[in-house]
Amino acid sequence: MSSWIRWHGPAMARLWGFCWLVVGFWRAAFACPTSCKCSASRIWCSDPSPGIVAFPRLEPNSVDPENITEIFIANQKRLEIINEDDVEAYVGLRNLTIVDSGLKFVAHKAFLKNSNLQHINFTRNKLTSLSRKHFRHLDLSELILVGNPFTCSCDIMWIKTLQEAKSSPDTQDLYCLNESSKNIPLANLQIPNCGLPSANLAAPNLTVEEGKSITLSCSVAGDPVPNMYWDVGNLVSKHMNETSHTQGSLRITNISSDDSGKQISCVAENLVGEDQDSVNLTVHCANPNYPDVIYEDYGTAANDIGDTTNRSNEIPSTDVTDKTGREHLSVYAVVVIASVVGFCLLVMLFLLKLARHSKFGMKGFVLFHKIPLDG
Ligand SMILES: *[C@@H]1O[C@H](CO)[C@@H](O)[C@H](O)[C@H]1NC(C)=O
Ligand SMILES: *[C@@H]1O[C@H](CO)[C@@H](O)[C@H](O)[C@H]1NC(C)=O
Ligand SMILES: *[C@@H]1O[C@H](CO)[C@@H](O)[C@H](O)[C@H]1NC(C)=O
Ligand SMILES: *[C@@H]1O[C@H](CO)[C@@H](O)[C@H](O)[C@H]1NC(C)=O
Ligand SMILES: *[C@@H]1O[C@H](CO)[C@@H](O)[C@H](O)[C@H]1NC(C)=O
Ligand SMILES: *[C@@H]1O[C@H](CO)[C@@H](O)[C@H](O)[C@H]1NC(C)=O
Ligand SMILES: *[C@@H]1O[C@H](CO)[C@@H](O)[C@H](O)[C@H]1NC(C)=O
Ligand SMILES: *[C@@H]1O[C@H](CO)[C@@H](O)[C@H](O)[C@H]1NC(C)=O
Ligand SMILES: *[C@@H]1O[C@H](CO)[C@@H](O)[C@H](O)[C@H]1NC(C)=O
Repeated sequence: MSSWIRWHGPAMARLWGFCWLVVGFWRAAFACPTSCKCSASRIWCSDPSPGIVAFPRLEPNSVDPENITEIFIANQKRLEIINEDDVEAYVGLRNLTIVDSGLKFVAHKAFLKNSNLQHINFTRNKLTSLSRKHFRHLDLSELILVGNPFTCSCDIMWIKTLQEAKSSPDTQDLYCLNESSKNIPLANLQIPNCGLPSANLAAPNLTVEEGKSITLSCSVAGDPVPNMYWDVGNLVSKHMNETSHTQGSLRITNISSDDSGKQISCVAENLVGEDQDSVNLTVHCANPNYPDVIYEDYGTAANDIGDTTNRSNEIPSTDVTDKTGREHLSVYAVVVIASVVGFCLLVMLFLLKLARHSKFGMKGFVLFHKIPLDG
């Protein structure tokens, strides 16, 4: 009795109070789910009982979810789903491990906000399918999927393609179940009409003068039919694209010299993977050399409406110079002809005068000649 009082007396109450205060403070600070341990940067859930039934979430206004870099979950048979908004608060997450658990389904957009994710370990879960869409925006260095009962289908072909592309020595032993429930090694998986797409970019001439325009066209092909899109990087020039089904064009207008050397890609993407075809632009400054400007204006007349004013200014001006040249020439000709005609007239006048004189003169001359005869 006295011992009971000793333990449940005021001292005990104070102790309990202190404990609750500590627990309360700790819970308020970390608001960690039961079966889990939390720190400022990690969430660790490996206790199988009672276990968690949903992806661990921190209470609002508790620890900053952005500071969590690692989530480790093991032996949680009742954790089956990762919902679209379960992981989004953990924007700093780098390592996600869910092993020996009941994970069956991961929402397509579950990792949309987790651009820092690098290592994912889903070893020994219940995943039957996993799409490339989950991870396509991420730059993962590790995705471990061994021990999952995948269903053989085109949906998981990307995993085989990824493994083949890596061809690292530590390739995972992955299998899928075919319609007869036979375990097929992923390396032997063959699915008809399920392959990588291809992209083909065509550009007329990638050496363009500043201020001009260029149109690139791209066609994509594949089965399943791929989507196509342009990756223009940090292109500053104005550009617009038109895409219809498997064909597309990208028009870049008033090209800036800041875009010289920039890479433009056309990407074909389907659920198996993607392919891209790229080109590099070369933009050189407009040549101030006069004859070149005229040449360029003629050459791109069909392309560039913006130059019309310059063209209409410059070309007639050359015509004018030509015309005035020709006019000068004809003036010279007229002057020369006039001079010649005038000179001829003068000569004729002189000759006429001379002829009149020479009638005498001639007579005289004759006379002169006759004089000696006469004389
Ligand atoms: C989260 O990280 C930031 C920057 O690293 C730090 O200033 C802040 O105190 C951290 N928050 C918590 C609750 O640890
Ligand atoms: C994440 O996992 C990798 C490999 O599993 C490990 O090397 C790294 O230290 C882990 N990083 C963190 C922050 O836990
Ligand atoms: C992934 O988890 C399994 C099970 O815990 C472990 O054996 C394996 O080493 C882990 N892989 C990596 C790369 O961390
Ligand atoms: C499943 O795989 C086994 C072994 O490769 C094969 O004999 C069987 O025909 C396959 N079943 C189907 C429906 O493809
Ligand atoms: C592309 O056009 C530039 C002038 O804009 C020309 O100098 C160059 O030779 C052309 N290149 C090809 C491959 O036609
Ligand atoms: C292509 O056009 C679509 C729709 O107009 C637009 O959303 C997209 O940003 C464009 N892409 C590029 C690279 O201009
Ligand atoms: C072309 O771009 C330059 C700057 O890069 C700008 O000053 C000019 O107004 C633009 N011309 C047209 C026709 O948009
Ligand atoms: C194109 O540009 C990229 C970088 O922007 C560069 O890595 C690549 O080597 C270039 N390709 C060619 C053919 O110049
Ligand atoms: C005409 O050419 C001059 C230089 O040659 C340039 O400064 C001007 O912007 C051009 N005008 C148009 C409308 O392209």
